[in-house]
Amino acid sequence: MNIQALLSEKVSQALTAAGAPAGSEAQVRQSAKAQFGDYQANGVMAVAKKLGIPPRQLAEKVVQLLALEGIAEKTEIAGPGFINIFLDKQWVAIQVENALTAPKLGLAPVEPQTIVIDYSAPNVAKEMHVGHLRSTIIGDAAARTLEFLGHNVIRANHVGDWGTQFGMLIAYLEKMQNENANEMDLSDLEAFYREAKKHYDEDAEFAERARGYVVKLQGGDEYCGQMWRKLVDITMAQNQINYERLNVTLTKDDVMGESLYNGMLPGIVADLKEKGLAVESEGATVVFLDEYKNKEGEPMGVIIQKKDGGYLYTTTDIACAKYRYETLNADRVLYYIDSRQHQHLMQAWTIVRKAGYVPDSVSLEHHMFGMMLGKDGKPFKTRAGGTIKLSELLDEAYDRALKLIAEKNPQMESDELTALAKVVSIGAIKYADLSKSRTTDYVFDWDNMLAFEGNTAPYMQYAYTRVASIFKRAGIQETELTQPVALHDEREYALATRLLQFEETITLVAREGTPHVMCAYLYDLAGLFSGFYEHCPILNAENDDVRQSRLKLALLTAKTLKQGLDTLGIETVEKM
Ligand code: ARG
Repeated sequence: MNIQALLSEKVSQALTAAGAPAGSEAQVRQSAKAQFGDYQANGVMAVAKKLGIPPRQLAEKVVQLLALEGIAEKTEIAGPGFINIFLDKQWVAIQVENALTAPKLGLAPVEPQTIVIDYSAPNVAKEMHVGHLRSTIIGDAAARTLEFLGHNVIRANHVGDWGTQFGMLIAYLEKMQNENANEMDLSDLEAFYREAKKHYDEDAEFAERARGYVVKLQGGDEYCGQMWRKLVDITMAQNQINYERLNVTLTKDDVMGESLYNGMLPGIVADLKEKGLAVESEGATVVFLDEYKNKEGEPMGVIIQKKDGGYLYTTTDIACAKYRYETLNADRVLYYIDSRQHQHLMQAWTIVRKAGYVPDSVSLEHHMFGMMLGKDGKPFKTRAGGTIKLSELLDEAYDRALKLIAEKNPQMESDELTALAKVVSIGAIKYADLSKSRTTDYVFDWDNMLAFEGNTAPYMQYAYTRVASIFKRAGIQETELTQPVALHDEREYALATRLLQFEETITLVAREGTPHVMCAYLYDLAGLFSGFYEHCPILNAENDDVRQSRLKLALLTAKTLKQGLDTLGIETVEKM
């Protein structure tokens, strides 16, 4: 039950009946304090101003017209004209029952959309590094969330698999193959790339060959094509290991690299010229955009084809947006890319819209994020200043988690310890990222992320096992809970209303791609549960009715925590 949406609708109806102009907003929010009720409607003031009447007078009229019988137990007018809404306890109890028995925790079905999510997007012949980590983690949470809600999600891994660097990479792969006739070791992609570059810079003959290979590759040469494929496959096989370790849902079928759009590029350039959007300028083909000014205050030129005929990253993103609409039938396209590429995307999409490749009804959304910083506030690097490999980061997380868990559980069997360390370490890395607002840079701090206190993965995972274990100790099956939920204690009520806010939380996360909102909600829920558990005995409740009602609250808490964490890609365990 999306209470916020329900109340918004009711207040809007009352506002309209009270004479508000069409489109007036009810502005219903969760109240910050219990004394202001569960929700408050703040839209009256703006409407009163438009109508030129005293806000409190309008508020009174709205309250009279508000049809909330059975839903709210009272409404109050506060301050200049806020309407505070106190939900009916009986109604809340019934919604809890419904959330427990209905599929998907009682969420209302959504109108399914086709949503393309562009995330992860590492580059070929390069190791995935921490910079790709945020995109992968946050994008995967979005994919899981939208899929859970019932949307048709298309994961698009926009791998960097094209460009002039492939000449030197093919030439170097060839050299390695010639020198090591048998198995060649490409496990260290970073070193491979570095060596290829070194040869290119230092060996003129090698560089010549490399340049020739670029031309051949672009011309569809079979040998170069095979070598290229090998590089892509090796890279993606290594990335797949990282995805699996990270419990990320990407598979090799989700790869839609830059090269996928090659065939579209000449047509797009021709079309943009024909439409008068692109012009020749100093040998290159350029789109001048009035929306963007260069340093001289003139329209900025975006190159879409170089003098030598080569296409650019922007040209590919123009084609890619077109493809996602035309071929994949996207209703929405979400791009999880760091904020430094914002201008690039805006330029590409401005061209896309002007050319009419994607209609306005289809949203292209840049869900950007900041950088990952070290504790010193500088970009996260190894001590020697190099980029940290993702696989090494995951190894370190595992070692640290294992040590911590072993200290806390000296009796635990080693199998269990290692399984737990896996779940906790991956959870910690992901949750630390997901729980911060993505638009800012974030500081990577081992001690914080592995702490068992605060808004961290270990705390949340532990909170889940605790709730789940209460239910287990009761020795009762879900189906044996026949008594209704009854909310007598304030804490029972606070927990119940918060549980019902799962739907409005996930709806917001789905709309804005802000998983930290889900993290904050789950953390708050875990805290409310603790308060409830301390003050309202469950297993030793005064009678069986109360015991069953409280067990139901515990059960829905466990389910909500588990489902919420699952939409974030965080695993739970039954014991820890
Ligand atoms: N491969 C790019 C990088 O590593 C990210 C690609 C993002 N997606 C896109 N459609 N441009 O920076």
